[in-house]
Amino acid sequence: TDQELAKLITEKLREIPDFPEPGVLFRDITPLLANGPAFAELIQLLADKYRGKVDAVAGLESRGFILAAPLAISLGVGMLTVRKGGKLPGPVIGVDYELEYGTARMELRPDSVKKDDRVLIIDDVLATGGTANAAMQLIEEAGAKPVAICVLMELLDLGGRAKLPDTQIDALVSF
Ligand code: PRP
Ligand code: HPA
Repeated sequence: TDQELAKLITEKLREIPDFPEPGVLFRDITPLLANGPAFAELIQLLADKYRGKVDAVAGLESRGFILAAPLAISLGVGMLTVRKGGKLPGPVIGVDYELEYGTARMELRPDSVKKDDRVLIIDDVLATGGTANAAMQLIEEAGAKPVAICVLMELLDLGGRAKLPDTQIDALVSF
């Protein structure tokens, strides 16, 4: 259940002050991943939440990959890799987006995507929403349907949700 997911994540996160810069409180999922039973339970609970509702799981490089791969196997569906610019061999489609300083790019091989598939996008954190929004656009452009964005944590101050109107965002924990 969502309650079990929230409890598991909250209990196993580590808060690191002043990382990666002074004034930022970084929430680190490393302890959750390193705990075998907790990691397994996380994937089991996520699989229970989405079983029968999705045809593919899209992981966002890199921390999203850690969640997407075991979840896809657990659901019996394929995994799509939405990667940082320049990592995938072509043909690729790409979306550029703004960061606080500069720009970033995410790419996808459209030939990895089956038309009309229901795709779950998964990542560890929703911050400004730029990465998740780029992933949505890529999956739509490739002809599939993003059904939800699932993140372990949503950082409310960064306003990511506003960049993703009309999208189901399943944030398991919010700060
Ligand atoms: C982090 C995080 C998300 C993204 C969220 O990834 O894992 O993918 O930023 O930020 P946004 O909502 O502002 O786009 P990062 O770029 O640090 O890469 P990593 O997963 O390789 O560490
Ligand atoms: N934790 C993990 N990733 C992040 C965070 C955080 O607090 N802020 C931005 N990306």
